[in-house]
Amino acid sequence: MMNLFHTAVILIVFFISSSLNFQAQATSQFLPPNFSKRGAWQLLQASMGISAMHMQLLRNNKIIMFDRTDFGPSNISLPGGRCRTDPSDTALTFDCTAHSVLYDISTNTFRPLMVQTDTWCSSGSVLSNGTLLQTGGFNDGDLRIRMFTSCYDLTCDWVEFPDYLSRRRWYATNQILPDGRIIVVGGRRQFNFEFYPRNPTQANFSLPFLQQTTDQNENNLYPFLHLLPDGNLFIFANTRSILFDFDRNLVLKEFPRIPGEDPRNYPSSGSSVLLPINDKNKPSVEAEVMICGGAPRGSFDEALQGKFVQALATCGRLKVTDPNPNWVMETMPVPRVMGDMLLLPTGDVIIINGAGLGTAGWENGRKPVLCPVIYRPSEQNSRLRFRVMSTAPRPRLYHSSALLLPDGRVLVGGSNPHVNYSFSGVEFPTELSLEAFSPPYLSPEFSPVRPTILYTTCNNGLGYMVLCHIRFRVSHYVSASEVSVRLVAPPFTTHSFAMNQRMVVLKLVVVARIGWDTYYATVVGPSSPQIAPPGFYLMFLVHASAPSTAIWLPLL
Ligand SMILES: *[C@@H]1O[C@H](CO)[C@@H](O)[C@H](O)[C@H]1NC(C)=O
Ligand SMILES: *[C@@H]1O[C@H](CO)[C@@H](O)[C@H](O)[C@H]1NC(C)=O
Ligand SMILES: *[C@@H]1O[C@H](CO)[C@@H](O)[C@H](O)[C@H]1NC(C)=O
Ligand SMILES: *[C@@H]1O[C@H](CO)[C@@H](O)[C@H](O)[C@H]1NC(C)=O
Ligand SMILES: *[C@@H]1O[C@H](CO)[C@@H](O)[C@H](O)[C@H]1NC(C)=O
Repeated sequence: MMNLFHTAVILIVFFISSSLNFQAQATSQFLPPNFSKRGAWQLLQASMGISAMHMQLLRNNKIIMFDRTDFGPSNISLPGGRCRTDPSDTALTFDCTAHSVLYDISTNTFRPLMVQTDTWCSSGSVLSNGTLLQTGGFNDGDLRIRMFTSCYDLTCDWVEFPDYLSRRRWYATNQILPDGRIIVVGGRRQFNFEFYPRNPTQANFSLPFLQQTTDQNENNLYPFLHLLPDGNLFIFANTRSILFDFDRNLVLKEFPRIPGEDPRNYPSSGSSVLLPINDKNKPSVEAEVMICGGAPRGSFDEALQGKFVQALATCGRLKVTDPNPNWVMETMPVPRVMGDMLLLPTGDVIIINGAGLGTAGWENGRKPVLCPVIYRPSEQNSRLRFRVMSTAPRPRLYHSSALLLPDGRVLVGGSNPHVNYSFSGVEFPTELSLEAFSPPYLSPEFSPVRPTILYTTCNNGLGYMVLCHIRFRVSHYVSASEVSVRLVAPPFTTHSFAMNQRMVVLKLVVVARIGWDTYYATVVGPSSPQIAPPGFYLMFLVHASAPSTAIWLPLL
């Protein structure tokens, strides 16, 4: 019924449309030559000049990275011979080095940017118009917000707004909301939350749950936040989690504690993802949270005494939309603290970076875990669910980060477990390098089934519940049941948590052949802004476990 009508429309659209081809957004010239079934590593930059403590991919395929201003001098000068005068900086009151860079994926180049005040251990979210909102930091930066709007020339830089926040936000977590506002939750000794734009009648709201979950080592910093399909917020801190109505400031329910009583948030840094949301356009959409790794209670104090406790090897999954869910626990092949969990275009989860012993914090991690692990949520055979990947060349400990690139690679950077930049005479020198891990799906053996997106009717804007037609090419087509179309919200990653990360699997209406090696797929835009808040998304088309390079589109 609907299908027949739309097939006719699509055919017209496809045959009259100018064959506007997308530029390969991040070209394959950077793919590593050597592939194995366990993926491949490549060094992109030996030195970026800064350590990538915080990273965010922006809509024009540039990545903003920054660390902190009070580390001492970095290894890259500020642009245009400028220097920063900051009488309140705790390390350098006069500083001619940069602490932020903008990296360009397609040219593999970068340029320095200027941050004025301290961005250390801060949080961020991309606003629905594509501008990055960064919130807080330390010292003179803790009440600031900063914005960065990416440009196509060399003119754009950070813009700072002093005293915007009502409370100090150091180790807080952000999440974009269905109406485009950003919620900023917690931070050190902050048992409250606030919004951007600022709430006109009340600037901040107390959240006793954050006080209840703090402990001697403050194992509830950088709480894990996930926006659920019903519009409420899932908040995990220490071992406990709640379903939270942020508009009414109401805890709707508390979920069972994660088994084992061991903390999962900073400094016992585990990581967490909201598993891909399958948007079937039905009133109730399921959602499941996953948390992996961390450090046993007391590990931080032990590390301060020079005793490095083995990290946690357990992961828990909680179907948060079930009426009475319970954690389902699994064991990773290797224990890990300070890992980063990222959603891959296939819907699998990569767990990358981190240490086998100790916790987050200065000099507190030992035994780097060099092998990423890929977890397949839908694999029935539990022995095949975790796959160990190729060993990384470099340790990535405290203050490292990771993110998914539009071509399916995973970018890793950072690692600075020291008070200052420290390049020699220490066990784990500060890392200024940038590397990429290519998961096995990028190997040449997937080339025949890898789809290329040629054209879409929604690259200028995907609407909620509105159809989008996608024309794609694949040389060896398997079947329509092997095709899926997924939106990914690129996260702000720092301290082992990818804020705002989400994947929505769109409802597929039809897949059909229209040429020798050319096909189209029709999908329906997300059901609601609760399922996918407005903003810029990467759209991947996946065929037979091989992802296309993503295209960017605004969800309006
Ligand atoms: C590829 O792998 C082979 C065998 O392991 C090795 O000899 C060669 O140096 C590698 N090439 C590159 C470019 O890494
Ligand atoms: C600092 O940068 C210079 C070049 O600008 C480079 O030669 C050096 O290796 C860098 N140092 C580190 C530790 O990356
Ligand atoms: C860090 O660097 C600053 C500025 O160079 C210096 O004043 C401070 O003593 C250093 N701190 C440590 C712990 O080395
Ligand atoms: C996005 O919105 C913010 C807040 O209103 C504004 O400051 C910024 O300039 C906007 N960015 C763009 C690209 O319009
Ligand atoms: C919000 O923050 C301000 C500044 O710290 C404080 O004076 C006020 O009491 C806070 N309000 C609430 C409701 O926490």
